[in-house]
Amino acid sequence: MPKKTSPRVSRASLPLPAPAARQQFRRRLLAWYDRHGRDLPWRTTDDPYHILVSEVMLQQTQVDRVLPKYREWLTKYPSLEALSEAPEDHAVKTWYPLGYNIRPRRLHAIAREAVTRFGGELPGDEETLRSFKGIGPYTAGALMSFAFGQRAAILDTNVARVLFRVFMGRGDPKAHATKRHLWRVSETVLPHKRVFDFNQAIMDLGAMVCVARKPRCPACPMSAMCRSYPFSTEPEGASPKTRLK
Ligand code: ADE
Repeated sequence: MPKKTSPRVSRASLPLPAPAARQQFRRRLLAWYDRHGRDLPWRTTDDPYHILVSEVMLQQTQVDRVLPKYREWLTKYPSLEALSEAPEDHAVKTWYPLGYNIRPRRLHAIAREAVTRFGGELPGDEETLRSFKGIGPYTAGALMSFAFGQRAAILDTNVARVLFRVFMGRGDPKAHATKRHLWRVSETVLPHKRVFDFNQAIMDLGAMVCVARKPRCPACPMSAMCRSYPFSTEPEGASPKTRLK
């Protein structure tokens, strides 16, 4: 008799995607990205500082507003050392008008710390990255996968929405336990090759197709395997397959 395969179960007893579903998700996502992925300047570099700047800028700001500022920033401060030597207020002014002034201050503090602790480099291990004030689990995962070529997962709002819809479909998307589970899902679905592209792709799918309001399900490569498909925009309670901001 063929051996039964059951999905691995997380600590919270929520099932993780089975191997076939992981495989399908990876293939579909990468094929979609090859055709529809955005050509963005931080996707043609593995410089840890450049990746850090882009990810901190993108935390609260749309891609089209980040693009000119990303270029301006790297022209003014081409390295962590250059940034560390600039006055903090100078960095805050350069950041304007992206908003959330804590972000340039954090970036500036990271640059100073990288210079004093690591000679102006960012360390290539997740634990040490996390020891920097201002580098949380998302930014650490982004740096590990985009700059250091490691098989590291990411989870931001867009990625969480995609994974929630495709693999969960129901439950409270905002619950702490859901977020914990989605981190495990994000780790589970990561491919062994093309991790850089995979993580960029899932962000693009969340930003371009699996958007918060009115997702473009007919254009989505996941619709056949998505637990939330067809996504309804009816108010909660009208259909079991609604939800998610
Ligand atoms: N949002 C956060 N990180 C991003 C990235 N690398 N590309 C596009 N959007 C993003």
